[in-house]
Amino acid sequence: MDVLRIQGGSPLNGTIQVSGSKNASLPMFAAALLSEEPTTLTNVPNLSDIRFMAQIIEHLGARVNQKDPTTWEIHAPSISTKAPYDLVRKMRASICLIGPLIGRMHQAEISLPGGCVIGQRPIDLHLKGLRKIGCEMKTESGYIYIDGKQRRGSHIFLGGRHGSTVLGTANLIMVACLTPGTTCIESAACEPEIVDLCRMLVAMGANIEGIGSHTLTINGVEKLHGCHHRVIPDRIEAGTYLIAGAMTGGTLKVQGAEIRQLGALHDKLLEANVKLNIIDDQNIEVFGVQSQLKPIDLITLPYPGFPTDLQAQMCALMTSTPGLSIITERIYPSRFMHVPELQRMGANIALEGASAIIHGEAPLFGAPVMASDLRASAALVLAGLTATKESWVQRIYHLDRGYENMETKLQSVGANIERLKQDGIPESCLN
Ligand code: EPU
Repeated sequence: MDVLRIQGGSPLNGTIQVSGSKNASLPMFAAALLSEEPTTLTNVPNLSDIRFMAQIIEHLGARVNQKDPTTWEIHAPSISTKAPYDLVRKMRASICLIGPLIGRMHQAEISLPGGCVIGQRPIDLHLKGLRKIGCEMKTESGYIYIDGKQRRGSHIFLGGRHGSTVLGTANLIMVACLTPGTTCIESAACEPEIVDLCRMLVAMGANIEGIGSHTLTINGVEKLHGCHHRVIPDRIEAGTYLIAGAMTGGTLKVQGAEIRQLGALHDKLLEANVKLNIIDDQNIEVFGVQSQLKPIDLITLPYPGFPTDLQAQMCALMTSTPGLSIITERIYPSRFMHVPELQRMGANIALEGASAIIHGEAPLFGAPVMASDLRASAALVLAGLTATKESWVQRIYHLDRGYENMETKLQSVGANIERLKQDGIPESCLN
């Protein structure tokens, strides 16, 4: 298992290029199964989660070809309908296979995803929507069997106690595209990744109205064809590097993002007195002047609210911003696994229900820390970049799931960070 060694204190200067979006790409690999014809996806990030999704759809019968690091061709003339436990348990996003299996094959047998480290992640809303559209289902031995032969267009309200559901919306859109009649999804997620999925489906011949809004109207068609689609840039990766730039000093340009999709982060960074320069729609510069930062009060919400996937990184920023910051999670109320690790680096944080109360103080000090999930890992790397002395971030396979070449990108702008094999690490730094 690899480890990241980080020596904090180097300012970040230069340009980081944003990769394609992981969370847009994953449901698109599933969507490619909706057609018998080949689909090509470009600007796909080169990540372990993507390779894993490729393996899952290969298991279902698709021919998958990675033509170059960011281009994938998927061709599924025929597919099976069973997604087994061994594959599904490794990646929650595989739940979005339900959509294409029901849409195209009218049945699915899929292992129920188990628990998740970032909190409870039920799929009741996915199932409620499927029932509303006429699917019948039963659960047995950890699998859900869904029969979609009687499906028909319907009116679905998809909101839940934490707002809309991203992959639940993706699933229902994919089913509705190949369901007779008109389906209206109210309280649909409108995250940019859903908008991008809709654009891909339209390129495949789907009829979707209201794209980008909370109400989608989908007129079912008989067949979808293949398409060529370029995945949007990863707004969470872009946001992570903007926060890194704000923390470390120097002038960092984040290139190739969709600035419009970063509105809530932009607003909060301005509130924190971070100096930003929007060069154009795709390029933004951040000037790290840490001594001038101000504390903030932040709540995560569905898009266009502040993304939960940037909450841990904002916690890292606020640990060394003098004053009292409050960061509240409204999507995953217990997504605070980064907090005990940040505390090991000297952060003064108290957890009160779904809020982190952060007393920002002097810089953190380096320590061996343990990554627990993707975004928590990113927060620890950011903390390590500003900490005095060395930090060792372990279990970085979490990071590799969602950040393409993070240490190489950071090295290229001056960070003192390197990837080591576990056996190269001093005993005292292992935990
Ligand atoms: N929820 C329900 N019932 C459901 C589905 C969701 O109660 O049937 C709740 C969840 O427990 C949560 C909220 O609704 O409280 C939102 O969950 P959502 O379904 O939107 O999450 P998701 O679609 O499973 C995607 C991203 C996550 C991201 C969330 C929220 C992918 C592959 N995953 O998950 O990304 O945090 O939306 O924006 O797109 C990450 O990249 O690190 C990550 C976890």
